[in-house]
Amino acid sequence: MRAFLPTGPNAIELTELDDVRQGPGEVLIEVAAYSLNRGETFQVENPPAGWRPGKDIAGRVMATVDGGPAIGSRVVAHVPHSGWAEYVSAPRSQVAVLPDEVSYQQAAALPLAGLTALRLLRRAGAVIGRRILLTGASGGVGHYFTELAAAAGASLTAVVSSPARGERLRELGADEIVYDVADAAGPYDLVLESVGGDSLPVALSKVRPGGQLIWFGQASRKPVELDFFSLFGGPENARLEHFHYTDGDDAADLATLVRLVASGRLHPELGRIEDWTRTPDVIGDLRNRRIRGNAVLTLIEEEHTPMDPRTVVTRYVEAVAAGDLPTIRASFAPDVVWTYPGDLPLSGDWKGRDTVVDEFLGKVAGQLFAPDTPVTIKLTNVIADGEQVFAEWTAEATARSGAAYRNRCGGVFTVRDGAIVSVREFLDTDHARTVLFG
Ligand SMILES: NC(=O)c1ccc[n+]([C@@H]2O[C@H](COP(=O)([O-])OP(=O)(O)OC[C@H]3O[C@@H](n4cnc5c(N)ncnc54)[C@H](OP(=O)(O)O)[C@@H]3O)[C@@H](O)[C@H]2O)c1
Repeated sequence: MRAFLPTGPNAIELTELDDVRQGPGEVLIEVAAYSLNRGETFQVENPPAGWRPGKDIAGRVMATVDGGPAIGSRVVAHVPHSGWAEYVSAPRSQVAVLPDEVSYQQAAALPLAGLTALRLLRRAGAVIGRRILLTGASGGVGHYFTELAAAAGASLTAVVSSPARGERLRELGADEIVYDVADAAGPYDLVLESVGGDSLPVALSKVRPGGQLIWFGQASRKPVELDFFSLFGGPENARLEHFHYTDGDDAADLATLVRLVASGRLHPELGRIEDWTRTPDVIGDLRNRRIRGNAVLTLIEEEHTPMDPRTVVTRYVEAVAAGDLPTIRASFAPDVVWTYPGDLPLSGDWKGRDTVVDEFLGKVAGQLFAPDTPVTIKLTNVIADGEQVFAEWTAEATARSGAAYRNRCGGVFTVRDGAIVSVREFLDTDHARTVLFG
């Protein structure tokens, strides 16, 4: 089999090795994809003797143990090392089974970054209504943590290096994006710090008195200098905690992450996907901050089994009802056309995913309703025939004028390759004209 092995300081090479043997209590996996982590890129610079890199893998089970996943099943694993290879023997206690909805590439991006985010949130405790500041937020951990913490009710400020690095975090639920930790307003109940150097002292100064800072990384690679006296009058009596992600049941926590992805509540952010032979270049790009989210390397191209049209439309309408913007966006093909009926200011063809999501559904339709009032969408019927799906839903809201908007809407959706390519919407346009544009 082939695997990447260190050949000296900051050098790895694809090397032919003896086939890996299944260890006791372990599952033998044919690797389909793996991901890279910042910490591993540092280790590659000065590799310990005999060390083989690679902690996050997804693939198919070739040999199993009692109580382990069935041979042939698709799995994700968090292995101690040696994952950048065609075959890996993984401890049973660090493997979880994948449902069909979760691709190998998504799964490979889950282990280290996802476990870290999940356990950071667990360490933080109840975050509903708490103000959180997260530094180094545009990486793998940052995207997962933002989505999980926002869903748990936190108000999160993310520190990133540019607007382009912050857009997706906003979609995932970040309330505020800042481009310099000094600009974060504060005070925060909790700060999660992963940059070190000059960032940590500034971030600490934003903690409320008696608040908490969890220190989980040093991406800048610069040690931190702290002045005891600078805490007076600011984050007095704050708690500063070190965090290492290894505390927990890997198989159970991986299964949780997989369940959240499968149900559309967690979205792996695959900033880079490459063939695994490009691993050395991708390491350089990750180290030099050229990758947002996770970097995934692929060994086996998975046959793409797109979601069936009925599921795509049902998931889409339910995402609208739940305000789940990432799933709404992911439901559309890039060149989708949405046709709104009648001769209202909204009527006509809306072309392209960004136009449909950001302009039509976001700005234009959003402006018709009174601010801070709920828009309630209920899916009442779905009929599918091949690539065409007819869906009916009710929409209830308060118009800007204060009048009650109650409409029954329908749409003929055309779905190809798991994405909506067109929608012909029908509704009572007279009611819409009177209530929304009267
Ligand atoms: N304690 C633990 O158990 C544990 C577990 C996993 C990860 N970690 C650490 O947690 C951090 C995040 O992990 P990750 O996997 O998300 O890493 P990542 O994907 O490489 O993301 C790190 C982020 O930090 C920012 N960054 C990098 N260098 C920086 C610098 N010199 N100054 C300011 N910001 C910088 C980058 O943001 P921009 O590109 O926007 O600048 C990048 O998005 C890393 O430091 C990692 O080593 C710790």
